[in-house]
Amino acid sequence: MHYFDYKNSVFHAEDVSMETLVEAYGTPLYVYSYKTLLRHFKSYDDSFKDFPHIICYALKANSNAAILRTFASEGGGADIVSGGELFRALRAGIPPEKIVYAGVGKKEDEIIYALRENILMFNVESEQELMAIDKAAAKLGKSAPIALRINPDVDPATHAKITTGHKKNKFGIPIEGALEFYKIAHKLKHVKIVGIHEHIGSQIISLKPFLVALQRLVSLIDELKAEGIEIKYLDIGGGLGIQYLDEIPPHPSELAEKIKPILQGRNLTIVMEPGRTLVGNAGLLVTKVLYTKKGHDRDFIIVDAGMNDMIRPAMYDAYHHIMPVHKKKRKDVFADIVGPICESGDFLGKDRELPSMLQGEYAVVMSAGAYGFSMSSNYNSRPRTAEVLVNGSEHYLIRKRQTYEDLVRDELIPEFIK
Ligand code: LLP
Repeated sequence: MHYFDYKNSVFHAEDVSMETLVEAYGTPLYVYSYKTLLRHFKSYDDSFKDFPHIICYALKANSNAAILRTFASEGGGADIVSGGELFRALRAGIPPEKIVYAGVGKKEDEIIYALRENILMFNVESEQELMAIDKAAAKLGKSAPIALRINPDVDPATHAKITTGHKKNKFGIPIEGALEFYKIAHKLKHVKIVGIHEHIGSQIISLKPFLVALQRLVSLIDELKAEGIEIKYLDIGGGLGIQYLDEIPPHPSELAEKIKPILQGRNLTIVMEPGRTLVGNAGLLVTKVLYTKKGHDRDFIIVDAGMNDMIRPAMYDAYHHIMPVHKKKRKDVFADIVGPICESGDFLGKDRELPSMLQGEYAVVMSAGAYGFSMSSNYNSRPRTAEVLVNGSEHYLIRKRQTYEDLVRDELIPEFIK
């Protein structure tokens, strides 16, 4: 559920029309609905109210400070994968004791930064990383809280590029060797085992893989207990899908219900790392139709947002619904909606039957709040877009549009060329 819709035939975010926003901020423009962000966070929180739990929002989905602050104010924590994300999370007021740190390639300086800030736990992905964390903690005279990220070898039936818990993937520690791995960690002087972690993939629209993976982790938790290794935090990762087209993803409450019997009698705090479910349908991208033209077998609608602004269609063949800002009687056309970038992979929608749009009109690209801006780039020397947050009838700029100066600010010309 989100608070974007047509009112009097003009598309609105909450009570603000897209006309108002494009006039104030230009295009391309990312627009977020504050009420939708809150609603999604609360529905997660309510769904898990019967468990001690921490919602560690996966920053990678969208790391704008205003969005982070929104979740922090509701009691949210953070799932981070880099020193940069740690910096952002802390700066937005997310308490370190609610921050978990995953990723297969944590660098020494990042480990030290996280140790100094006293995060909740490192989700360890290899034996060498474990040793690096132990060594860094020894240097600081600290004990590093850790969980092992387990690769449970399940198939989450999602796009191959966003599957993470299958045996072919680089993530986590193979479940078969996990008990031995825990025993090694248990013996180290400067790490303290506090948890267990899994994250099996993204945009998963069936509960089954989650439950299979969870069952495997819970068996491991029991084996660990028998070995005298106590697990406090069970981090179930993120990965629940959202509706882009006609998917019917499970609600977080369904996941919570199904988890209950599996965890019964165990004294665990659930950590969750939702990204897409919190922000995906809380954001859209508004773009302007620059030109239209007839191709051999289709129309091309050329808009001012490109793959540098929104790479999901190019990278995952992802579907994002595209609609005109003004609703009126139109005939449908068969068209590709493409950007200005010099690559054929630069499209926002391909092979679409959609209402015809004219030069100068505006269109919205829906469900763009997750992995939209956060994956954007300056490719083709295009300044990054602005971002706006709407709350009721108010709108706030939460990221300035980049300028041409911003594009070259960090570049240096060596003296010998000058
Ligand atoms: N936790 C970990 C350790 C992760 O790697 C991820 C996402 C999440 C949580 C959050 O997953 P979510 O709830 O958002 O599914 N760029 C891709 C998605 C990549 C997901 C990477 N990991 C896309 O645009 O579909």
